[in-house]
Amino acid sequence: MSNLAIHGGDPVAPDGLATDWPRFGDAEREALLEVLDRGTWCAAPYLFDDRRTSTVARFEDAWAEYIGTDHATAVPNGTQALELAFRAIGLDPGDEVIVPAVTFIASATAVVLANGVPRFVDVDPDTYQLDPAAVEDAITDRTAAIEVVHYGGYPAEMDALREIADEHDLYLVEDAAEAHGTAWRGQRVGSLGDVGCFSFQQGKALSCGEGGAVTYNDSTLGDRIHSYARLGRTPDGGRYEHRVPAGNFRLSEFLGGLLLAQLDRLPAQTAVRAENGRRLADRVEQIAGLSTLPDDARITDRGYYFYFLKFDPVAWPVERDSFREALGAEGIPCHTAHNDPVYTHPAFESIDERLLYDNPIDYGTVSCPVAERIYETEVVALSKDFLLDAHNVELVATALEKLAANRDDLAA
Ligand SMILES: Cc1ncc(COP(=O)(O)O)c(C=O)c1O
Repeated sequence: MSNLAIHGGDPVAPDGLATDWPRFGDAEREALLEVLDRGTWCAAPYLFDDRRTSTVARFEDAWAEYIGTDHATAVPNGTQALELAFRAIGLDPGDEVIVPAVTFIASATAVVLANGVPRFVDVDPDTYQLDPAAVEDAITDRTAAIEVVHYGGYPAEMDALREIADEHDLYLVEDAAEAHGTAWRGQRVGSLGDVGCFSFQQGKALSCGEGGAVTYNDSTLGDRIHSYARLGRTPDGGRYEHRVPAGNFRLSEFLGGLLLAQLDRLPAQTAVRAENGRRLADRVEQIAGLSTLPDDARITDRGYYFYFLKFDPVAWPVERDSFREALGAEGIPCHTAHNDPVYTHPAFESIDERLLYDNPIDYGTVSCPVAERIYETEVVALSKDFLLDAHNVELVATALEKLAANRDDLAA
């Protein structure tokens, strides 16, 4: 019998991986206390004589600068960032938005919340990102927008997708909730489409517990974003002038302060994760039956939310889930990211019929074979936090190499 931990041997990482997150210190404490002591906890502009004293306003400026857009608007979470983006581009009932089959539910539900109809499209088997050829095939005269998700932090094929969007006169919305710091040809994601959407939820690379932002350049779109985020007010209108029915998507001043402090840490953390991700990929590529998402010279910076391993079932005597169990036994926690293609959730069976009009989408019959295969048999995902510590890379690589060296015993 082998020394695999799943068979009673010593695990490679008996204490698991060091994954402390979020990381914070005096800067965050001071930022929170400063807001507390100032006594203005709400970010409404009419509470500030000078906009620059609002932490949320300062964060919006700093985030726009970091992403490379003219503007950013902070919101309470990533789901509302997406809803706001789709409300701002203006979907009529029956308008379709192309959504990748591989993503978190919010990418799709936000479309429905803004009166749109998600049309699910398969992903590229190499990159796990929206497949441009499948997008072309899915465009109908109802299509209003393409939503790209930079899934796990790896960028979508932005050259081709921007071209398709321009050619068909469609909005391009980026769900960059998982891709803080990722850059394509030197431009950060969130600045490549018409609107970029971010989440600052606890697990994200920039976090304030719950938060989000939209990023954009176009000022007409910006006026609409302002109105839909701020109870229908206009940027230059009065406090009690409301031009559209809209929600209140405002972030608190405490979270603005926390985000400013966390943003100072983001570039260095992104660089460490990218370097450790590269080092792990070099080790993984030596193991028959495992691989990672491909290198691409156009990816000039790499943020992470998930580290994806591709498990080739043909090269192993067990199936992916037994492999995951064996890796877990070695002390390396892993999962399958979001488990199932997003269209399999019952949420879409109950879309209000008034939105669909005569729309032919029957969600019960949607099938995206690549997405299904990825989730069923291929993906082994590690959450990003281990990447901040080089020793974790050694532990993960050693555990994978151990499973490979004992692969015949896995089935025993
Ligand atoms: C791809 C993607 N989109 C949207 C969201 C929604 O963000 P939030 O949880 O802040 O609402 C998430 C969050 O997990 C996500 O991963």
